[in-house]
Formats: sequence, structure tokens, C-alpha cells
Amino acid sequence: MRQGEFLDPRLVEVYDAESPWGRDDDFFVAILAATPAARVLDLGCGTGRLALGLTAAGHTVTGVDPARASLDAARAKPGASAVCWIEGSSSVVRGLAFDAAVVTSHAAQFVVDDDEWAGVLDDLHGALEAGGVLTFDTRDPSARKWEDWNPVDSLRRITLPDGAVVTAWTEVTDVRDGWVSFTHTYEFPDGDELHSTATLRFRTEDELRRSLAVAGFSVDVIFGGWAREPVGAGDGELLVVACNRETV
Ligand SMILES: C[S@@+](CC[C@H](N)C(=O)[O-])C[C@H]1O[C@@H](n2cnc3c(N)ncnc32)[C@H](O)[C@@H]1O
Repeated sequence: MRQGEFLDPRLVEVYDAESPWGRDDDFFVAILAATPAARVLDLGCGTGRLALGLTAAGHTVTGVDPARASLDAARAKPGASAVCWIEGSSSVVRGLAFDAAVVTSHAAQFVVDDDEWAGVLDDLHGALEAGGVLTFDTRDPSARKWEDWNPVDSLRRITLPDGAVVTAWTEVTDVRDGWVSFTHTYEFPDGDELHSTATLRFRTEDELRRSLAVAGFSVDVIFGGWAREPVGAGDGELLVVACNRETV
């Protein structure tokens, strides 16, 4: 299945167990601390970890994701009723208004088609108030992280809430100018083996800056790591903080 971690309830549970709160979430909460009590859009919110954390931090959060099984998991979490969950992609935010938007855990890389990416940025720009903040993470292609996505380096054991242990590994199947395709394999204790495939777009810093400018954003800063290191000196990330450059 393509992107099974978001669409298949069995793999959604695995994704959730494999994705606890981390430095990335701390980074985004800290960025949004500059806009207290904001109306925040979490596009590609998945199972809602950060959306719920942002709510706890005092923001009013709308979580949008096209994957129903992920949203079902998000809606079942404690505190979920405080978040407005919407099934869909960026087009559902047209006509809504936010002070800030986040796109996290590399969700931006799942928008592989560049025209679609331009449309997502247009939708985000249209939904953000003048001066509104857009922040997102995307892996720096220069760091070539996909080279670690092989069955040996990526082998991991994930413990589910009921104690069952799933063994998983990842294998890259194709690398082409900025697009990387791969397969995750999950072995369940009952012997079931599930496969999930995906392609991610690795945009360069220049490509990001150009696409953001075309959509009407100005880039405040791009960090290279979660401790706000410069690009090339951090965690192999491009952590973008931009704003809707319409005059406030
Ligand atoms: C790696 S998950 C990240 C989920 C969540 N942000 C987190 O921190 O765990 C990527 C998410 O992007 C969503 N996604 C994929 N394509 C999308 C698109 N075109 N627009 C919005 N979200 C998308 C997936 O359904 C998935 O939930």
C-alpha cells in the first residue's frame, strides 16, 4: 500500500508508537511561542501529536490531513475535542483564517509534484493573515539521509501499546534528481508482513526559497537543525520560518 502508515489502521498504530514527542515538536512549539494564543493550522497533522501539544500551549488548532485512519487515531486521543480536525488537503483551508501554519514531520516532502506544492503554498498563503507565520521541516538533499534507509541501518523494533513488538526496516527503491522512493516492511508478531511504499521530494534550499517567494512568502530564516544551527551544520534539515509578506 502507498503511504500505509497513514491509511491502514494497523500501520497507523505503528506510526504513532514510532513517533513520540521529540526535538522537532519542541522546535515548532518554540517558534509558535512568538505568536501566543494563535489560530494555528497543522497541515498534514497525522495522528495529532503536535496539534494536541500546540493546543496545550494555548493555541487554537485546526488539524488537516487527507488520511482518515490517521485522523481517527488523532480524534481518539485525550484532549482531541479541543482541536478542529478536518479530512482533506490544503484546499480545505480556503476561506479560513489563521495566524500561523505548521507542516511537520516532513509532511511537505509528501507533496512530490512541484505544481501541487505551489498550490499548497498558495492555499497556505491565502489562509494566513498578513504577517502570519508558516514553518515547516524538510530534509536537506545535501545530507543524503536516504543512504541510511537500508535494511541494516534502518532495522528497528517498535513496541505497540499492547506490548506487541513489530520489526520494521526500510529499503530505497529509486533515487532520481530530488525524488526518493522507498518501501517500509513491517513484521507483526502473528506473522503478518505489511509493506508500505512512498516517494518523497527532497527540495533544495534554493527551490524552497523560490517557491515561497512565488507564493508571496518572505523567508525569515532557514535553520539546518533542531537547535537552530545554520544550514549544513545541523541535523541535515531545512527548517523554514517564513511569513505572509502582505503588509500588516
Ligand atoms: C510523516 S506524516 C506527519 C504527520 C504529523 N505532522 C506528525 O508530526 O506526526 C505525513 C503526513 O502528511 C500527510 N499528507 C500526505 N500528503 C499530503 C498532502 N498532499 N497534504 C496534506 N497532508 C498530506 C499524510 O497523510 C501524513 O499524515
